[in-house]
Amino acid sequence: MGTMDTMGTNTMTPRTTVLKIGGSVLTEKTDTPTPKPEAINRCAGEIASSVTPAAADNRLILVHGAGSFGHPQAEKRSLRNGFTSSEIIEIHRVVASLNELVIGALIKNGLFAVPVHPLGCVVAEDGRIARIATAPIAMMLDRGIVPVLHGDVVMDSRVGASIVSGDQLVTCLATRFGAARIGFGTAVDGVIVDGSVVPQITPETFEAVQSQIRGSDGTDVTGGMRGKVLELLEIGIASHIFNASKPGMIARFLSGEELGTRICGNADV
Ligand SMILES: Nc1ncnc2c1ncn2[C@@H]1O[C@H](COP(=O)(O)OP(=O)(O)O)[C@@H](O)[C@H]1O
Ligand SMILES: [Mg+2]
Repeated sequence: MGTMDTMGTNTMTPRTTVLKIGGSVLTEKTDTPTPKPEAINRCAGEIASSVTPAAADNRLILVHGAGSFGHPQAEKRSLRNGFTSSEIIEIHRVVASLNELVIGALIKNGLFAVPVHPLGCVVAEDGRIARIATAPIAMMLDRGIVPVLHGDVVMDSRVGASIVSGDQLVTCLATRFGAARIGFGTAVDGVIVDGSVVPQITPETFEAVQSQIRGSDGTDVTGGMRGKVLELLEIGIASHIFNASKPGMIARFLSGEELGTRICGNADV
């Protein structure tokens, strides 16, 4: 990890982790915005106790899902493609209000956390991220601030506006920041096939299990478990899908443990 430069000083290579906490962990996935305050506080506590403030050699980018703060609002869209301006405002404001709860809990637990709203820094093309302003995020990481992004409605050069999931943001950010590790904390123990958690999925083994990996049981417009696995199979970064509803699991993931289902994407097998 650490390398000695020509001056003999120790220059640590920063190690970046991208962690997503699912909307199913932080909210009740019902049709009105309903937070789970205890879960939000517990997750924030586990994250804050695992991240050393200002230790910019061990960087964390956080992403959270929308749960009932966004999915039901996005589902009742009036247009087949895109969203009206009032829908953009409604969806963004409701998910931003969940982000504020998460940020508040992180700060209360002693972390330097700031919101980074995708609506203000992402352009999509037909629902996929085409551009993202990474400079502010890089500068936050340099000084030990944890940027907190979330699934959001964003402007889209093809369809006007579209939903970019927290899951898609994770793989985009992990790729752009050369992350060493990705965690998807969700409300199940991992990818379940034939009734039990599969320890590992690779592009080769995906074919045989894919019919059992589906969307969400709750309201979720962005693909549920299938969406997560497909995102992760596209990239070659060590990734774990684990149960963040169980106390202690986020802390264990952040301490480097292998948990839940490991997805080994292309170039990572
Ligand atoms: N094979 C599978 N293993 C685990 N979960 C699955 C599977 N297939 C579908 N799911 C569903 O996907 C959900 C996880 O996705 P989602 O609800 O979008 O979580 P999050 O809120 O973390 O984004 C699970 O709770 C479950 O309902
Ligand atoms: Mg989801």
